[in-house]
Amino acid sequence: MVGAQWGDEGKGKVVDYLASSFDYTARYAGGHNAGHTVIFDNHRFVLQLIPSGILRPDKKAVIGCGTVVDPIALVAELENLKKSGIDVRGRLFLSNRAHVIFPYHREMDKAAEAARGAAKIGTTSRGIGPAYEDKMARRGIRVCDLLDPDRFRERLERVVAEKNVISSAAYGHPLETSGLLEQYLEIGAHIRGLVADTSVLLYDALERGESVLFEGAQGTMLDIDHGTYPYVTSSNATSGGAAPGLGVAPTRLIGVAGVTKAYTTRVGSGPFPTEMPDLDAHEVRTRGNEFGAVTGRPRRCGWLDLVVLRYAKMLNGIDSLVVTKLDVFDEQGEIKVCSGYRYKGQPIVEMPPDVETLAQIEPEYRTLRGWRKPTPGIREVKDLPAAARDYLSFVSDELEVEIGMISTGPERDATIVPQGTMLATWL
Ligand code: GDP
Ligand code: IMO
Ligand code: MG
Repeated sequence: MVGAQWGDEGKGKVVDYLASSFDYTARYAGGHNAGHTVIFDNHRFVLQLIPSGILRPDKKAVIGCGTVVDPIALVAELENLKKSGIDVRGRLFLSNRAHVIFPYHREMDKAAEAARGAAKIGTTSRGIGPAYEDKMARRGIRVCDLLDPDRFRERLERVVAEKNVISSAAYGHPLETSGLLEQYLEIGAHIRGLVADTSVLLYDALERGESVLFEGAQGTMLDIDHGTYPYVTSSNATSGGAAPGLGVAPTRLIGVAGVTKAYTTRVGSGPFPTEMPDLDAHEVRTRGNEFGAVTGRPRRCGWLDLVVLRYAKMLNGIDSLVVTKLDVFDEQGEIKVCSGYRYKGQPIVEMPPDVETLAQIEPEYRTLRGWRKPTPGIREVKDLPAAARDYLSFVSDELEVEIGMISTGPERDATIVPQGTMLATWL
């Protein structure tokens, strides 16, 4: 299950719905930059690193080696779940190979953003990028290191010495690292019970015939390789990331669901071809409550972009499309959908690799009728207003993909699952 846009498509809600049909839910990328909202029984949960499937009491959840883990944030998230009566004992597993986020990663994230000035990415300031940088530079510290005090001490000293040289040269001061060793050893002991070789765990589960739902974080257009680079996150958010990010063979993946809103949002900077003018954006933001689940930042709002979705279908191999937030258009008179791009007056079909070109794209719009009727509470496609059905059919026809699920509200039961789809066979 992947985000087909720039994140915040409603993955948390969708995973929560689907998770009841799977034995495991597993996160393969990103960290606590994600915010996946799940609402049921008047409870609102925002899951950041822990897979949303954990909210189903009899299900297991895995945080894979492709994620970056801030143990302090993880413990805080565990505490929050505990307060809400969610017991994770024996059913949450953290990869021993996942890389650890340290406070110096957060410092570096903020310093790098400040240094970029007006060209800042608008990161979540969680230290995600710098932690992945260290992983790729082969100086990262992993969860397994945290559990071995001698090895951890030795590694941390070496890494801090190296980073202090860089930090002093780049920012004029060394890193703030006092008390770090003791704090992290203590927190390592605290999370020890969760740590496992999660590739083996999932391999054994799959061999037993159990099922795994891979929970994507972020979205296709934030993917480090395929997104609007450099205005992206630092991991592979696309479906291919699931294999290395969990140590599960790619041949095990049997299907991909892509999640899109009925419109588009983006948080942070970077080009956004279908961004709405302020007034329209304000209306959609208010109706869709488009404020960051983690940072509270107002999300930029725009019309649905079929060029983005076609690209997402190709990259992820989307078999089934989930459309969320249809209800946000319930009062809309006319709905625009971008069906193509023009660049310097000429149509272009491929997603430009550079943000400079993307920033100059002129979207071509089709205008569809709104339905001006409430959709929450509707349980079957046939009961949706005709114009809402037309909207969904238009998207499905243009993308040549089925619509496997429709969401008409944030709650668990505001969901329509049409029969006879590929998605229905996975449940
Ligand atoms: P994620 O990061 O993809 O999990 O999405 P977020 O949780 O960050 O943002 C999606 C927001 O939309 C959350 O506030 C959800 O509660 C809400 N949401 C999800 N599906 C629907 C829907 O169908 N209708 C409405 N109105 N809200 C929805
Ligand atoms: P979920 O899983 C929306 C964006 C940030 C920023 C860029 C880089 O909830 O959909 P980072 O902190 O990752 O280095 O920031 O990526 N971003 C997200 N936007 N939803 C997310 O996650 C995001 N995770 C990162 O806003 O533009
Ligand atoms: Mg989110």
